[in-house]
Amino acid sequence: MSEGLFVTLEGGDGSGKSTQAELLEQWLVERGRTVVRTREPGGTDVGVEIREIVLHHRGDIAPRAEALLYAADRAHHVATVVRPALARGDVVVQDRYLDSSVAYQGAGRVLDPAEVRRLSEWATERLLPDLTILLDLPSEISRARLHGARTRYDRLEAEAVDFHDRVRASYLQLAEAEPARIVVVDAERSVGEIAAVIRARVEPFL
Ligand code: TMP
Repeated sequence: MSEGLFVTLEGGDGSGKSTQAELLEQWLVERGRTVVRTREPGGTDVGVEIREIVLHHRGDIAPRAEALLYAADRAHHVATVVRPALARGDVVVQDRYLDSSVAYQGAGRVLDPAEVRRLSEWATERLLPDLTILLDLPSEISRARLHGARTRYDRLEAEAVDFHDRVRASYLQLAEAEPARIVVVDAERSVGEIAAVIRARVEPFL
């Protein structure tokens, strides 16, 4: 049996993560792998409820409470979906994981990024991805893309441009700190080009 592989996709809103997750899944399935494509927040039944609160609650949520909600979603998701899939030898292709918390709650909400990271490490019993693809896009471009696609924004999307600039800068710092795990891909390239770069990075793990 093949060993499990945990791949996460990260990036700002509108960076094309979901499209790339789908394409990566198709490619892996063609290569005979069993794939679990999932996401955070909202990869479980409990997570769907947490997602509704963090993204659509009317009114403020204190930054630490928001960080705990994402961590709670992650704890349940890892325990009930991700770890069992990896134990079966599946490939988990996941839209967002702990780097999102460090970037959004750490840099975006201005909590201590190291503390936010530790919270997720506790929640997941230190499960780190084998590979993380960071789809990097200037905040103005992701905003323009979302603007074309949506008429309403969720709580995080509705944050000001400087929030999203901090998120992007934090992601890039994370990638610099962990170059062996996090690969930065220019999300302004075409869908096909990005998919090819991702496949080339995943291939050695198969
Ligand atoms: P999505 O729209 O890509 O599914 O992500 C939902 C939003 O939640 C997105 O704006 C990023 C945000 N988010 C955090 O702030 N912290 C986290 O830990 C995660 C997983 C997502």
